[in-house]
Amino acid sequence: MLPTMKCLFLYFLCTISIIFEDMSSAHPVVHRFEVTKSTHTRLCHTKSMLTVNGQFPGPTIYARRGEVVIIDVINNADQNITIHWHGVKMPRNPWSDGVNFITQCAITPGNRFRQRMILSDEEGTVFWHAHSDWSRATVHGAIIILPPKSETYPFPKPHAEVPLILGEWWNGDVQQVYENFMAEGRDAKVSDAFLMNGQPGDLYPCSSQDTYKLRVEPGKTYLIRMVNAMMNYIMYFKIHNHNFTVVGIDGAYTKPLNTEHIAITPGQSIDFLLEANQPPARYYMAARVYSRGAVYVPTTGILEYTTENYTSPSSSPPLQLPSFPVFDDWAASSHFSRNLRSLADEKHPVDVPMNITENLFFVLSINLWPCLEDSCVKSDRLLASINNISMLMPDTDILHAYYNGIKGVFQPNFPDQPPRKFNFANSELTWSQGHPQFGTAVYMLEYNSTVEIVFQGTNLGEGIDHPMHLHGYSLYVVGTGFGNFDPVKDPPNYNLVDPPLMDTVAVPRRGWTAVRFRANNPGVWYMHCHFDRHQTWGMKMVFIVMDGEHPDEKMLPPPPDMPRCQTPPLDLVFRV
Ligand code: C2O
Ligand code: CU
Repeated sequence: MLPTMKCLFLYFLCTISIIFEDMSSAHPVVHRFEVTKSTHTRLCHTKSMLTVNGQFPGPTIYARRGEVVIIDVINNADQNITIHWHGVKMPRNPWSDGVNFITQCAITPGNRFRQRMILSDEEGTVFWHAHSDWSRATVHGAIIILPPKSETYPFPKPHAEVPLILGEWWNGDVQQVYENFMAEGRDAKVSDAFLMNGQPGDLYPCSSQDTYKLRVEPGKTYLIRMVNAMMNYIMYFKIHNHNFTVVGIDGAYTKPLNTEHIAITPGQSIDFLLEANQPPARYYMAARVYSRGAVYVPTTGILEYTTENYTSPSSSPPLQLPSFPVFDDWAASSHFSRNLRSLADEKHPVDVPMNITENLFFVLSINLWPCLEDSCVKSDRLLASINNISMLMPDTDILHAYYNGIKGVFQPNFPDQPPRKFNFANSELTWSQGHPQFGTAVYMLEYNSTVEIVFQGTNLGEGIDHPMHLHGYSLYVVGTGFGNFDPVKDPPNYNLVDPPLMDTVAVPRRGWTAVRFRANNPGVWYMHCHFDRHQTWGMKMVFIVMDGEHPDEKMLPPPPDMPRCQTPPLDLVFRV
């Protein structure tokens, strides 16, 4: 009798779970993202700007590992837009990846596009942002991926969770900043403030009333989910007198790493624990630019201890800014790629490709090109390249061209080596005296090929570190170092046991970073520097990962409402 009952009981459970699974795939959560112009004031400047649902930063998406989330993007603004789910691998579904001229064309005003965000093994924090022109300056928000209901975090449950988004604010219109940047051929107008959860902080004029405050109870632990959604700066983040424990990066857990500061590049997201273990008081939290020269005002917030019978005094004594590490030319930006380790346990196995079939050596540089328009501020314009190819966006999206076999939109011949080798890490100039080549070149990868990319930074032009970001994949960061990469001496020092898994990796200006991945996600995947100015200058390329043999190794079919191309990219106007 008993076995039958048990069986029946199990059967019942089984049926229930099947029904639930069916429900979740047949009726996934649907979010409505309405892109509109809305009015916001910072630094006593009021402007109308592009936002999602009127919010700045935009709405946070909560989901659980492995879920499918539908987002209806509705363009009720007056300019083109696309939206990208940064750090989400989107297995077999590049159609919803949201990159203008790469996987789709922009959603034009008055139109909409239903995007299917397919989560797989991501867990932690990633984010979404616009991926057309420079709209992502104001169109971005966090994506928080929780463990499935039956699981917990691989660290003690925090008392509370706090998204912390770093951003930038221009008093003027960002689209105008972008168009001037293209027309003038030089660096963009520097933003007027840096932001912490949308607020500049009290070191900026006309800003103290709105400073971001984080209230904590003594003795409790908080999980901070930090996203660097800034356009152009690697940042340091510190809280006076407090240390942190990093537990995850880019939607993947790490072994706990204790640190006094966070270094975070645009495109990265870092999860860390903050213990409220200091004497109850108010403390400055601050984020400052990682840079060699220029002095920028840090954005600040206030960490405020509260208890039932204690309220921190709001005025005196004056708060002390945390002291930031000194700029050391390479170690800071790659601090976490060098020191973080994947969990690499039973539940979080690592699968670093060992036998590499595609060895790619990608040299990143800043270049020059004659600037001939009346709008130019100098006789040459700044450009940027990978293996000396400065990418031009096509006027039809590459995914559409690839899927439909349309010729002439891209060339499948992106070089696996630079055209010439020189002492990249030194200051001798070569390519910047000459010019880059232009092209819409794509690197073709067979399904399941095992890829290593060594990114080599150069000292050319206004060189700085580059946060390189690949869509559709996470990358095992197996090594990084100072100087020129040595193919004999460096690989033996790789970490092939528990390297961190990241989607955006810092490449030191005068150093290198090596990553590996298995090309098991078919599609058209963009790779670029996550500094918007470098991306716009051409530091970008595309991988096409071909379909495999089995039906579940092939790209999914396109959705019926793919936006069509109407307006050509701005870089075609200025460079050819
Ligand atoms: Cu954060 Cu191409 O993206
Ligand atoms: Cu860059």
